[in-house]
Amino acid sequence: MTALDARPRAGATLRFPERFRWGTATAAYQIEGAADEDGRTPSIWDTFSRTPGRVRNGDTGDIAADHYHRVGEDIALMRRLGVTDYRFSIAWPRVQPTGRGPAVQKGLDFYRRLTDELRAAGIRPVATLYHWDLPQELEDAGGWPHRETAYRFAEYAGLAAEGLGDRVATWTTLNEPWCSAFLGYGSGVHAPGRTSAVDSLRAAHHLNLAHGLAVRAVRAAVPARAEVSLTLNLHAVRSRTDAPRDRDAARRIDAVGNRIFLDPVFHGRLPEDLVDDTAPVTDWSFVEDGDLRAAAEPIDALGINYYSPTAVAAGASPSSPSRSLSPSPWAGAERHVRFVPVPGPRTAMDWPVDSGGLHELLLRLRDDLPHVPLVITENGAAYEDYADPSGEVKDPERVAYLHAHLAAVHRAIEDGADVRGYFLWSLLDNFEWAYGYSKRFGIVHVDFPTQRRTFKSSAHWYADVIARGGLPTRP
Ligand code: FCB
Repeated sequence: MTALDARPRAGATLRFPERFRWGTATAAYQIEGAADEDGRTPSIWDTFSRTPGRVRNGDTGDIAADHYHRVGEDIALMRRLGVTDYRFSIAWPRVQPTGRGPAVQKGLDFYRRLTDELRAAGIRPVATLYHWDLPQELEDAGGWPHRETAYRFAEYAGLAAEGLGDRVATWTTLNEPWCSAFLGYGSGVHAPGRTSAVDSLRAAHHLNLAHGLAVRAVRAAVPARAEVSLTLNLHAVRSRTDAPRDRDAARRIDAVGNRIFLDPVFHGRLPEDLVDDTAPVTDWSFVEDGDLRAAAEPIDALGINYYSPTAVAAGASPSSPSRSLSPSPWAGAERHVRFVPVPGPRTAMDWPVDSGGLHELLLRLRDDLPHVPLVITENGAAYEDYADPSGEVKDPERVAYLHAHLAAVHRAIEDGADVRGYFLWSLLDNFEWAYGYSKRFGIVHVDFPTQRRTFKSSAHWYADVIARGGLPTRP
């Protein structure tokens, strides 16, 4: 009997397990606004977005979706959707401005109110401690390539956990440390915009260390029943052919894209092939005794963010396919790997639509980490959405994308992957990092000048999926 043999529910074709969690996801800097209210200090994203040329149209998160002032309204949207869980992030520079010192009550109060109101609405709060908003002072002191940042993070994690306690059902330490390390310090397309291969590897290591130390700090502060997890944007890497050279290219991307986090966190070791591949860049002497053991502090679940697969062949390419800027974020791999196009339709991000990659990834994790519960903590798509003259926002491509990816999750569960939940990215249109407000990922449309929220057809569709506990035959 598999998890799917649960009681049938009327109308649903692909039924999900009875206790499957249905959620939406957001992140603080992308939606909150209120950038300098109640003691919040600038993060690296405030600095980066205010630097000309870094973010499209000069957009910043100063106002964003004004969620800081519209929490009640946004929770009402979630109620209408019927979600069981909500994944949000806590802004470090709100709770511990400048990254040092005691917690600021007003900062904590915002998340107390959010979590209390979520609970009152019957929605489980799932909090990410770090979704890329490093306090600027900590960047000025060296940022993630600097070891001290890991200790700073553990302290902040403890303060947030003490301040919010058992209001939070699931704690996630980091969101996508690959992006923090390699887009922030390697290719420089994300804040803080630095471009050093060795710093990107140092950052990755210190993020692993920060994660493990934060797991401990959170567990010391909250009741034992709180879940603790980590979210990775694992790359579903495909080799263009079976030729050994192409397969070696895929291995390299798997090492510096995936196993650089999976091996320390789940096995307390660095991948040997990664150490070899990156020998021209570093000897890893910044890894101190006990670091890898600390990184491997046990966790309760692994979050996976998936948007599209990656296809590679032997060769050389200066950067990844979606970000055609050099320098490369792929420390140690860039001279051996060429990114090749994945066929099929594309989203407004120019990311390929390929739900098979999600299925591949989930089966790989089923095999490699058989005892680790999995949660899809982000999945979704950007399209050119607009309100038509009647005020409706129709987004059939997003519905098709979501349908295909949820069907892939369902298939993976049937195949034995222990997937416990799915969080759609995103609840609201928001500040899409280097793309600013030019890319819309929400299932709720936001008219930024008026901040008016409108359900897109995908929101109605998702509400129906949640109510049925499964997918209709066709999108
Ligand atoms: C992920 C980020 C998230 C969002 C989506 C589209 O990499 O975690 O904040 O921007 O991409």
